[in-house]
Amino acid sequence: MMATAIEFKNVKKSYGSKVVLDEFCLSVSQGEFVTIIGSSGCGKTTVLKMVNGLIQPSGGDILINGQSIRQMDMIALRRNIGYAIQGSVLFPHMTVEQNISYVPSLLNKKDKQKTKSAVSKWMRIVGLDEELRGRYPYELSGGQQQRVGIARALAASPDILLMDEPFGAVDEITRGQLQDELHQIYHKTGITVLFVTHDISEALKLGTKILVMDQGKIQQYGTPQELLQHPATPFVDHLVEKERRYCRMPEEQLIHCQYSGVNDSST
Ligand SMILES: Nc1ncnc2c1ncn2[C@@H]1O[C@H](COP(=O)(O)OP(=O)(O)OP(=O)(O)O)[C@@H](O)[C@H]1O
Ligand SMILES: [Mg+2]
Repeated sequence: MMATAIEFKNVKKSYGSKVVLDEFCLSVSQGEFVTIIGSSGCGKTTVLKMVNGLIQPSGGDILINGQSIRQMDMIALRRNIGYAIQGSVLFPHMTVEQNISYVPSLLNKKDKQKTKSAVSKWMRIVGLDEELRGRYPYELSGGQQQRVGIARALAASPDILLMDEPFGAVDEITRGQLQDELHQIYHKTGITVLFVTHDISEALKLGTKILVMDQGKIQQYGTPQELLQHPATPFVDHLVEKERRYCRMPEEQLIHCQYSGVNDSST
């Protein structure tokens, strides 16, 4: 059994009288790639932001590697957790290089050359051309900004990566490429990932486990296979229905079909 990386214990979150999460329990093993999907406003972003302390629970507790985040130093916690969100989250007054090296250069003040080559490495991994190095965020396309954001999140070599609809704003082709790149990075690093998406195909393609939420409640938490073959609620059944129709074939081939979009060969 893999150790538990993230654990929500009876977490409650409310804003005034509005309850967003109620008795929310979730256990994520180290090295798991969890995709989170559910209706708008159901609490996905809230769950993600609670992991790195950007939102405090109203009740219950959250453990990271077995330790309550209430007892943790927030700066140390966030240094170990990469966070990539949709939209422009880059520092607008910094170049691509400065954005990506923001954390490594903090940690690596003495060795500028090491930081430079780390930036090159991450730019290569996320598919950014070297010539973009000196550009500012406003001089980049949406997809390029997204890649810089992912490179920056990864450059700190975090144990946990939180991604909130990171590929929401990019075109289909770029999205497919980013998915493949992320899948490979995940396999190479053994990082634990929480990834919010609105797209069930993306959730099934990337996730080793999928968390389906509706109205602050967990509908199902299981492997792609479990969701497709044994949807726990009508909500899940409806969600995966279309995916099943694409893949009318014997059960043992179903999963292969779901993953066939991901190119597993190393770059
Ligand atoms: N600061 C706040 N004050 C009051 N209500 C809030 C606050 N932040 C979030 N909410 C409410 O909490 C609920 C959950 O929000 P959350 O951002 O987690 O949803 P989500 O699942 O990420 O939705 P989406 O898919 O639209 O991004 C929503 O109903 C939202 O309106
Ligand atoms: Mg959200």
